[in-house]
Amino acid sequence: MKISLSDGGPADHICQVLVLGCFEDAEQEPYFTLLDERLKGYLSVLYNRKEFTGSLSKVKMVDTLGGIPAERVLLTGLGKKRELTGEKIRQACGTVSQTLRIPGIQSIGMVLPGGLEHVHAAVEGVLLGGYSFDCYKTKQEEQACVETMTILHDGKKSAASAENAVKEAGIVCDAVFFARDLVSQPGNVSTPSYLAEKALAISGKHNLDCRVWDREDMERHSMEALLSVAKGSHQPPKFIVLEYAGGKKDAHPIALVGKGITFDSGGISLKPREGMEKMKSDMAGAAAVMGTLMAVAGLKLPVNVVGIVPAAENLPGGGALKPGDIVKSMSGQTIEIVNTDAEGRLLLSDALHYAQTCRPSAIIDVATLTGACVVALGGFVTGLMGTDDRLKAGLQKAAETTGERVWELPLWEEYGELMKSDVADLKNSGGPAAGAVSAAWFLKNFVGKTRWAHLDIAGTAWEDKGRHYIPKGATGTGVRLLVEYLRNTALK
Ligand code: BES
Ligand code: MN
Ligand code: ZN
Repeated sequence: MKISLSDGGPADHICQVLVLGCFEDAEQEPYFTLLDERLKGYLSVLYNRKEFTGSLSKVKMVDTLGGIPAERVLLTGLGKKRELTGEKIRQACGTVSQTLRIPGIQSIGMVLPGGLEHVHAAVEGVLLGGYSFDCYKTKQEEQACVETMTILHDGKKSAASAENAVKEAGIVCDAVFFARDLVSQPGNVSTPSYLAEKALAISGKHNLDCRVWDREDMERHSMEALLSVAKGSHQPPKFIVLEYAGGKKDAHPIALVGKGITFDSGGISLKPREGMEKMKSDMAGAAAVMGTLMAVAGLKLPVNVVGIVPAAENLPGGGALKPGDIVKSMSGQTIEIVNTDAEGRLLLSDALHYAQTCRPSAIIDVATLTGACVVALGGFVTGLMGTDDRLKAGLQKAAETTGERVWELPLWEEYGELMKSDVADLKNSGGPAAGAVSAAWFLKNFVGKTRWAHLDIAGTAWEDKGRHYIPKGATGTGVRLLVEYLRNTALK
């Protein structure tokens, strides 16, 4: 989509649909009053009849019948004027995008309150809400796709910063789409090798360094926990490292670690059949990390970041890991396997240990780790756990700005007891109680003294119904959150 800015008046703008941000309680902006006059008071009539109230994300399409050059106006509710936030703009614009999936509509104009300050959120909403994954549909349906959008503003504020906001939002959304595409790809396509190929591809396009280890390399580095997960599958595991050096030469990097299980059948501890197809999304953490590196390089942020993706497929083949097996992780700690479906933490234990060799200032891991996190927080909040208050606060702040919400769960000492084994140093499952926290406690054993935060995206990586700027399917969660976090740390 081509997005441009113009200081032309909305009443003179030529387009097929003019999107008009409207408030509740008749507290309108000057542009609303102007357009209402040009449309002979019809907008007020709709409000008076309560056919349109301006409540958040409610929309109504109106024909202009020659009153203004735009053929139609899409009234878009933004809620109460005093309660307006970037997230509300993003949501409303996402709904606009989903509403305008109408064949034949190609050019739109958009008028929003708040001058240019919400441009970034508006562009994100429109782009993210317009996403679809249809590369496997062989029968082309009639194309419904907005091609050009002009954001109309009053020209009083700096247009240069708005141009920049549009550009940056585009870069970030491309990275979210990259992550959504990876997660949407089925397990027979998106294998560990495929993730490695994609990592090499983005490193070629952007200013990134990429290394891929295969089985032998991992064996040489004693990554037995990671390797044990891959034993039941014919797909070879991969260990992918992407590096971006945008900061000072001697500055410690921030390490991002993403769970890359390209399909999770549960292994010998096989999952129930219902909904198992969704387990192709068990590499959403990997996708978030790769997307983040892509965006950070695109934005040229002045930070050093290393992205680490341990990738494997969890299947119950003849060579598979079994309950009762004991493996030795790269850190030297031994792990009793009590449930082969708790595979993510095995793979992550070696990746987190490896991450420390990069001497990072902090480690953040992102993983579709536990069903328990979904039970605790539902489908629109990511679980946050960690050992460092400043790091957690930074992520909470980024969550606030981006709308990728996080909620902290406690990592109290007592939960660590759940992961102790009778025969090894640790066991890989502590049972159903406090499942999200005990999994995080398991990970904590592999981060040493490094500041560390863990994001459990089991609930947020996949959207079942579709809402505002998150269409049904892969959400690409984590990319915007981590990019915003890194942007803020770069400013410091
Ligand atoms: N990938 C799953 C977690 C998951 C569940 C992600 C639902 C997305 C939606 C993970 O590997 C897993 O199977 N976890 C187990 C852990 C248990 C065996 C301790 C779980 O949550 O049941
Ligand atoms: Mn599992
Ligand atoms: Zn899993």
